[in-house]
Amino acid sequence: MTIRSYKGVKPVLGQGVYIDESAVLVGDIELAAHVSIWPLVAARGDVNIIRIGARTNIQDGTVLHVSRPSEKNAAGSPLMIGEDVTVGHKCMLHGCTLGNRILVGMGAIVMDDAIVEDDVMIGAGSLVPPGKTLASGYLYVGSPVKQARPLNDSEKAFLAVSAQNYVVLKDEYLAEI
Ligand SMILES: CC(C)(COP(=O)(O)OP(=O)(O)OC[C@H]1O[C@@H](n2cnc3c(N)ncnc32)[C@H](O)[C@@H]1OP(=O)(O)O)[C@@H](O)C(=O)NCCC(=O)NCCS
Repeated sequence: MTIRSYKGVKPVLGQGVYIDESAVLVGDIELAAHVSIWPLVAARGDVNIIRIGARTNIQDGTVLHVSRPSEKNAAGSPLMIGEDVTVGHKCMLHGCTLGNRILVGMGAIVMDDAIVEDDVMIGAGSLVPPGKTLASGYLYVGSPVKQARPLNDSEKAFLAVSAQNYVVLKDEYLAEI
């Protein structure tokens, strides 16, 4: 079954959400309106919570997980993703916080307690180490990521366009069900 409870808590889906039938979502997860979850995504809100903002898309093969509270980190590391975020194919987002209008390039890894501010692009295959903050308005690439350059106006505009493209696409998929 795609959407499963853990300790009696089941994912909550907003209006117009699309979840591919091969994805797996477990536990304390909330998806805001028009979020799309593509094939083979695994999202596990068991030892902490996952929240995903409106119109965000999580593309094929991406893994979403969290870290439990500990002596060093009383709240643990929830996974918080903002609005109009594009998460490319086969990414790993673990216990981190992403703002709004972000593109996470294919295969990127974002680790615990990293913070990605609004309007950021992360290059394909990049690694964002634990606790690092990526500043608003920049492209970051590499493993570990380095600030590459400021985003230009058309790249900034594209961040919202990318999310909107996926809202249109998921509506086409919903129409097939
Ligand atoms: C980083 C990116 C945005 C290109 O940025 P750019 O400034 O236009 O970069 P260019 O293509 O001009 O390349 C500049 C340099 O960065 C390197 N580069 C490009 N992409 C890179 C990446 N992801 N990681 C590391 N280096 C990268 C290039 O090889 C080049 O190196 P060189 O100067 O030594 O030759 C793009 O390659 C990328 O990764 N986009 C993400 C796309 C994606 O995954 N979308 C989600 C799927 S829907």
